[in-house]
Amino acid sequence: MSGTAGQVIRCKAAVAWEAGKPLVIEEVEVAPPQVMEVRLKILFTSLCHTDVYFWEAKGQTPLFPRIFGHEAGGIVESVGEGVTDLQSGDHVLPVFTGECKECRHCKSEESNMCDLLRINTDRGVMLSDNKSRFSINGKPIYHFVGTSTFSEYTVVHVGCVAKINPAAPLDKVCVLSCGISTGLGATLNVAKPWKGSSVAIFGLGAVGLAAAEGARIAGASRIIGIDLNPKRFNDAKKFGVTEFVNPKDHDKPVQEVIAEMTDGGVDRSVECTGNVNAMISAFECVHDGWGVAVLVGVPNKDDSFKTHPVNLLNERTLKGTFFGNYKPRSDLPSVVEKYMNKELELEKFITHEVPFAEINKAFEYMLSGDGLRCIIRMDA
Ligand SMILES: NC(=O)c1ccc[n+]([C@@H]2O[C@H](COP(=O)([O-])OP(=O)(O)OC[C@H]3O[C@@H](n4cnc5c(N)ncnc54)[C@H](O)[C@@H]3O)[C@@H](O)[C@H]2O)c1
Ligand SMILES: [Zn+2]
Ligand SMILES: [Zn+2]
Repeated sequence: MSGTAGQVIRCKAAVAWEAGKPLVIEEVEVAPPQVMEVRLKILFTSLCHTDVYFWEAKGQTPLFPRIFGHEAGGIVESVGEGVTDLQSGDHVLPVFTGECKECRHCKSEESNMCDLLRINTDRGVMLSDNKSRFSINGKPIYHFVGTSTFSEYTVVHVGCVAKINPAAPLDKVCVLSCGISTGLGATLNVAKPWKGSSVAIFGLGAVGLAAAEGARIAGASRIIGIDLNPKRFNDAKKFGVTEFVNPKDHDKPVQEVIAEMTDGGVDRSVECTGNVNAMISAFECVHDGWGVAVLVGVPNKDDSFKTHPVNLLNERTLKGTFFGNYKPRSDLPSVVEKYMNKELELEKFITHEVPFAEINKAFEYMLSGDGLRCIIRMDA
């Protein structure tokens, strides 16, 4: 047990006081972990677009003050009552969706939508007592998706923590805690393209490029990348994308452009933008008879998906996924091993690095569409 176990820890955290306003590094108090919780020392965290959506809170339920962050790597500082499979010193990746290992979903081979710990973006407190573990002068600060990794220490439910190989460099594998595993799994576990097939990827951020990487690993022969940002096309070549389409270059819907390029449609598509029109295009660009579209992007609260039912009658399939259908505790350690065995390269996703004090720069990079993932070093 560490010397701080059972005590309140005072440390630095980046607090979002208001929607869309720069985060402020504050000294916060982090309470000890309660029943089935663990307290983590975060060493590296990175920024995913989902943090930015809920920080902007334009199409989402606002909840402030809040500590964002869900893509990270760290070390267990102490564990709460009832935690038996983690101990102080373990290397871990926290995950925004959990695995209790007991519910129907956790027992099903097909689902990772745990009844107890599935993603809940509106909840800002811990499950066991509906309270926050973070405070400033006694005033609670809300959690985000059960992880809140923009803090030197955070408290997470044990079911949302994957124990990984301690030899894995946390400054690289932290990106597997959300975006890269999500994109990779969306293709390999859900879209399941076959050797020689054609795959369209909508949105060439880190999640979409990880989906492209999955298509390359599966042996797809055509990987068509679609993005509104022409800067993305250069990055995409390193991820096996073979052709590019910028919807802005065409005066007809992008699904028609893709259908023409592919003799009726692609075999598989994966949507990684969060834009509802791109979701509809991703569905309508798959071939009839066998085409499968997989939605990954997080939509706005009031979005609705509209397509003609005949698109489904024509034997197309529409699916969606959280975290690429990986079960966080059971499956993530083996995704880390893919990196360790050099089957999966992570360095090419990491385009920036900033010290914790400059965390707002990571938001600027994401908003300007510059680069893919920015690693935030907590000790710097
Ligand atoms: N389902 C999940 O489990 C899960 C997990 C992680 C992230 N996400 C979501 O995945 C999406 C991608 O995340 P990211 O971190 O890679 O974001 P990102 O901002 O780095 O990438 C998104 C890309 O989509 C492009 N884009 C936006 N609208 C478009 C449109 N209409 N047509 C074509 N391209 C368009 C942008 O130019 C950008 O390059 C986000 O919506 C994020 O919230 C979902
Ligand atoms: Zn994410
Ligand atoms: Zn469960």
